[in-house]
Amino acid sequence: DYDTDQTSVSVAYWFALADVLETGITVLHTNPGNAPPNIPDSYHFRPPFGWMNDPNGFGRFEGRPHLFYQHYSHGLRWNTMHWGHAVSSDYLRWRHMPIFLFPSEDLTARPDKRGGAYSGSAIPLADGPGIRVFFTEQVQDRIPEQQIQLTATSSDLITAGNADVVLPYRPLDQGLTADFRDPYVFKGPDGRWKMLLGSQSDEGGVVLLYETHDHTAATGWTYIGKLLVEKHYRTTAIECPCLLPLDGPATDPATRWVLILGLMNSEDQSTRRKNLTMAIVGWFDGQTFAKEFEQELDFGTDNYAFQAFVDGDAIVGVGWLANWADTGPAIDFPTAMTLPRNIRLSAGELYTPPIGAAESLRSHILDRTRLAAGEQVSFINGAVEILFELEKPGAHFHLKLEHPTVRLEVVGDEEGLAIRHEDGGAGPHYIAKGARPKRLRIFLDYGSIEVFADRGRWAGTKRINGFEPVQSARLIAEPGAVLHATVWALKP
Ligand code: FRU
Repeated sequence: DYDTDQTSVSVAYWFALADVLETGITVLHTNPGNAPPNIPDSYHFRPPFGWMNDPNGFGRFEGRPHLFYQHYSHGLRWNTMHWGHAVSSDYLRWRHMPIFLFPSEDLTARPDKRGGAYSGSAIPLADGPGIRVFFTEQVQDRIPEQQIQLTATSSDLITAGNADVVLPYRPLDQGLTADFRDPYVFKGPDGRWKMLLGSQSDEGGVVLLYETHDHTAATGWTYIGKLLVEKHYRTTAIECPCLLPLDGPATDPATRWVLILGLMNSEDQSTRRKNLTMAIVGWFDGQTFAKEFEQELDFGTDNYAFQAFVDGDAIVGVGWLANWADTGPAIDFPTAMTLPRNIRLSAGELYTPPIGAAESLRSHILDRTRLAAGEQVSFINGAVEILFELEKPGAHFHLKLEHPTVRLEVVGDEEGLAIRHEDGGAGPHYIAKGARPKRLRIFLDYGSIEVFADRGRWAGTKRINGFEPVQSARLIAEPGAVLHATVWALKP
């Protein structure tokens, strides 16, 4: 029975039982609905319960968007990885599906029980309906510890069949470490299937390229070489690479491609942001990548392991709305995914606005006059969208967001555009230096803020600890500097 509520009831039962068996203490209560205990409805994707990290296998299959994700349903910490699964018609309203991928070997025998089905991607099955997924498993009984790449298929898009190993070893002669993961499979300009893998070397993070002549992508994977080495922000390894044609068809040599990378252990010294996501624009001929420019995908801290695919004439992508740097004891509820975003190139710059369908989240207008007039606007719950336009690019403003536990502001001044987030004490400020935006679109939800400036030229994402909603907003600016401002209540 794949009815969503039924699935939740039975999995919640096992969840509670697992806690009793493992710890002797039931730390979480079962909840027969879709909402995890004490978590209000919100419009960002979350798993029904338990831990979630990276989006995986994001794509449109048999006509509908599917989102898989790194999942551990028995607790709120990272542990043995499974692939959770949800299906949608518009990328915003998701139906939870049963767990799609299970670890392929018995992890209970291992001392730390960790590993499992790590991140990866999905492509349509070559012959007949369904999908083929690619993912990494951590094999700890081999010395040195190895990560291997596997593939599995599913014709019903509900459960995956047995997995086969496609790459049992990393390339051994390239000065690479054991990091060798997150296969991203896509069609190259030559029509052949290509695979990117994230890795690490003394020189920095590395993207490895493989290809196969097999039109089913099941076998025949051979190593082509290092596609790119990335050292920015002292990155040690690359995680979750993906590569997409940006401004034309994949087969046209003039088409620019965008390479999106998780920069593991990176740190921006000036803002103390860690684990950043980089987008590199350039040309991909099927074997090599020639860089044109690079641009950070987000000026906040919580948009990692971003995964995107080409859906018709648009690129749609989603990131994990969290950061490994602060996912320890602070998190006591399942994390979210970012709003789905488009990626496009315009006048030599990358834009990552929320997908057009995000407007369908608007329920009703809460305000059209008071915010623009500098008055306080209170919210009934914290799920709102705020849109305002400034009289000229870079006009200074100060949006104060009242939250019970966190000091939260969005500021535009001579330095740029910033999210100021102070979680007790003087916290860091996240800033798009030199940004002089004219139009601001801000999404508030339980546990997050997403700022989009000038139709996505700058995007800033920040997770907010706990589940208190933002209670009110006040926009302070010079008289006449705000042309108009609207606040919408959003649907759950
Ligand atoms: C990135 C990551 C991936 C890995 C997965 C494990 O967030 O570390 O490299 O496959 O998470 O859950």
